[in-house]
Amino acid sequence: MEPRSPAANDLKDAHRRFREFRLGKTEDRIFTHPIGHPSEPTGFCPCEGSFWKATWVYAKGALLRLVFNLPFNGLKVWLLRRLGARVGSKVYFCAGVWIDPLFPELLTIEDGVFLGTSAKMFLHEFGVGEFRAGKVLLRRGAFVGGLAVIRCGVEVGAGAVLAACAVVARDVPSGCTAISPPARIINPATKQIM
Ligand SMILES: CC(C)(COP(=O)(O)OP(=O)(O)OC[C@H]1O[C@@H](n2cnc3c(N)ncnc32)[C@H](O)[C@@H]1OP(=O)(O)O)[C@@H](O)C(=O)NCCC(=O)NCCS
Repeated sequence: MEPRSPAANDLKDAHRRFREFRLGKTEDRIFTHPIGHPSEPTGFCPCEGSFWKATWVYAKGALLRLVFNLPFNGLKVWLLRRLGARVGSKVYFCAGVWIDPLFPELLTIEDGVFLGTSAKMFLHEFGVGEFRAGKVLLRRGAFVGGLAVIRCGVEVGAGAVLAACAVVARDVPSGCTAISPPARIINPATKQIM
């Protein structure tokens, strides 16, 4: 057998560490690994694997999309738990919430969390030069506004509020509100922002 190249050994070791990360065997919140341009094979997307692995990812995505647009909250909670996420009690999902289907096992939602219409939670990112996956934790009683976007690796503290359309890229402390810039209004006569 041909000896493995150092790059292949490195990728094999990264896959082992990534598996342990996804199984919750490390305390790390974020896993990163250098990659080339994400338009090239990265070694981390399940779609680059076998036909069945790729089909499973798309099937998970389609199933999540379908179920999260149905009016059965219990079914949403059940499906997420089946896919490996930890979801507490009295968690409510409005229609159209989107959960990254690649690694749903990285998501934890504590008791009493509300997620507004079409809120989105990313659990991985392919960037230029880096693959990143991160655990998202929504602590007890957090409120996620409609269309809010949560980046992978973010923790939302107990009772925190994410405003509608907030783009949340870092941790939100307990009880705080995260808000993105609102639309600015221009006076047509003066062309000034009011
Ligand atoms: C963030 C939020 C909780 C604030 O509510 P509030 O305390 O009543 O806030 P106010 O209306 O007094 O607004 C306070 C300031 O925040 C701004 N603001 C309010 N909501 C905002 C938003 N989503 N994005 C950006 N800025 C916002 C207001 O313009 C105001 O700024 P100003 O003082 O410079 O004019 C609320 O606006 C919100 O986004 N709720 C989420 C609703 C939702 O998505 N529900 C689920 C749907 S299914």
